[in-house]
Amino acid sequence: MTDHLLDPVEVHLPDDHAARALAKDAREGLAADPKSLPPKWFYDARGSELFEEITRLPEYYPTRAEREILAQRAPEIAAVTGAHTLVELGSGSSEKTRLLLDALRAAGTLAHIVALDVSDSALREATTALAEEYAGIRVSGVVGDFTEHLGLLPGEPPRLVAFLGGTIGNFLPAERAEFLTAIRGVLKPGEWLLLGTDLVKDERTLVQAYDDARGVTAEFNRNVLHVLNRELDADFDPDDFAHVAVWDSEQEWIEMRLRARREITATISALGLEVGFAEGEEMRTEISAKFRRDGVAVELSDAGFTLERWWTDTAGRFALSLARAD
Ligand code: AVJ
Repeated sequence: MTDHLLDPVEVHLPDDHAARALAKDAREGLAADPKSLPPKWFYDARGSELFEEITRLPEYYPTRAEREILAQRAPEIAAVTGAHTLVELGSGSSEKTRLLLDALRAAGTLAHIVALDVSDSALREATTALAEEYAGIRVSGVVGDFTEHLGLLPGEPPRLVAFLGGTIGNFLPAERAEFLTAIRGVLKPGEWLLLGTDLVKDERTLVQAYDDARGVTAEFNRNVLHVLNRELDADFDPDDFAHVAVWDSEQEWIEMRLRARREITATISALGLEVGFAEGEEMRTEISAKFRRDGVAVELSDAGFTLERWWTDTAGRFALSLARAD
């Protein structure tokens, strides 16, 4: 007898989706001036491991800060939302998701867990584990891109969509608006969004979080070049590039870049492309925007949400927003 309720994983991405998307992003980003690559290409198996390592670094406070808030507030989140469905954008493999799920289960409202992730393997692993741990709760996995496949999310209302970790900071402001509006578009009035955002703070703390002493973030940054080498048959020597993390105080975001240590010509065979870097040339690989309460409230309101609760960790470094669809 088992009461594991794991739905067949719904796959909304073709097998070659990632390969085609990477080819397009690389072709466009490497031809642009200045050059740039989207941060989602950090996360192959090694990149995901390096990110896990980053979350344990003394300098990288966001994960611990968000966990502190969730540990304290999960029961209140459950009580306020009465959510029947938790939708996690990302695979839902994290310990932080479990804090939420445990509180919703304890409150007696949780009936359904939905995880959306681009990685088929990560999603299957996560949903299998969730179905075992949360016996009697229906578990659905959707393989999709959270910027494209939000409309396909199952689940009985009221749903609580969780977008944690501060990943919304990877979007440019216009992309953020589009993304929040898309989430609002799939929700009914009275449903919920739980959003994690890192906060503006002193430059030293921010830069150190993205340029740690052990160089793990530098390896994570350079990993995108390993991905290009493997997936697009490119010939970058990652050691030719220095890791750069700068705080842009106007835009209020951290920018990660790779700076060519010398003049470089790289071949990207799968694209039939040669790319030149001048010595010292920088390619942007990530923005990680930092937020303030007023800004978050306005962005949520513009997207059709009302900010109902705002919590920070004790040190005031990171915030969780609980917003209700208008
Ligand atoms: C996973 C996007 C939240 O922006 O802080 C960590 C990724 N980049 N160190 C972040 C990251 C460099 C992280 N997010």
